[in-house]
Amino acid sequence: MAILVPGGAGYIGSHTVERLIEKGFEVVVVDSLATGHRQSVNTKATFYQGDIRDRDFLDQVFNKENIDGVIHFAANSIVPESMEKPLKYFDNNTGGMITLLEAMHDHNVNNIIFSSTAATYGEPESIPVKETDSQVPTNPYGESKLMMEKIMKWADVAYGIKYTALRYFNVGGAIMDGSIGEDHGPETHLIPIILQVAQGTRDQLQIFGTDYPTKDGTNVRDYVHVMDLADAHILALQRLLDGGYSDAFNLGSSTGFSNREMLETARKVTGKEIPVVDAPRRAGDPSTLVADSTKAREVLGWQPQHDNVEDIIASAWKWTQQHPHGFED
Ligand code: UFG
Repeated sequence: MAILVPGGAGYIGSHTVERLIEKGFEVVVVDSLATGHRQSVNTKATFYQGDIRDRDFLDQVFNKENIDGVIHFAANSIVPESMEKPLKYFDNNTGGMITLLEAMHDHNVNNIIFSSTAATYGEPESIPVKETDSQVPTNPYGESKLMMEKIMKWADVAYGIKYTALRYFNVGGAIMDGSIGEDHGPETHLIPIILQVAQGTRDQLQIFGTDYPTKDGTNVRDYVHVMDLADAHILALQRLLDGGYSDAFNLGSSTGFSNREMLETARKVTGKEIPVVDAPRRAGDPSTLVADSTKAREVLGWQPQHDNVEDIIASAWKWTQQHPHGFED
């Protein structure tokens, strides 16, 4: 059984590839390497470098490999960049989905697990956020992903391609042995930035906004370990391969941590001081994002193993210490 993983050289993609291989799946990764890292892909996976918007490239892969299902990660995912370059996001993310679904339809591949995001909800109407809450994105990244969810819905109606949209909240951590981890250039995410400061490769942490209506004035987020997220993809895939219907699931821990709490936890885990300065709010940041992930637990049988921020930060720290300059080391 071969699973196609577009974006399998990215952060979440590469960790999911590890789990797929562990579980005995044959894995075919396609990645343009625009943001991914070839070194992050397990050597047991077959790798093709190319862009999913290139239909000829996709046809070659589908013709050569016997694909049974798709786990689709290939997308740009930086919220501030999407505010400046919205068309890049609609082209690469939304456009990529259209070409991928066309190729799947023509090659008779009828299920897809999709990396969606809490950013499809925008400013939440209530906390914790439920899958049935309204989706009103506040940035082009979230909008591009919401469009992709809608496109999959109509591809199901017309062609019977079943989909599972997994709406991630804040993903962190690394595989437990620290061999692969999070490496974005430039880095914008809180945990890797805190750990770069702990490591000494960055001078200080800026906390964006200290006047939010939260417990300590800083944003509150819901963190999920990347390996738990990987497990959710495999459960979702199995469900579709077993004939499950199309659906969407939130993936988070259902517990909120403020940016200051994350800093304090990182100080404890690393034993480093981690200098910090207060900075103005970052455009587009919702005050609080916490998921209701009950549905994933009940329907997918998802049971996160690292459901605490200490584990998430400790595993990310192991990766950071082993690779102070990311995959360049
Ligand atoms: N933050 C700082 N300083 C930094 C970096 C981040 O204070 O140097 C703060 C942010 O302002 C935010 C929190 O840390 O309050 C988390 O920020 P991240 O950039 O790590 O994550 P986001 O919550 O912005 O984004 C994540 C995913 C997106 C997704 C979004 C909404 O990375 O892909 O959640 O679910 F769209």
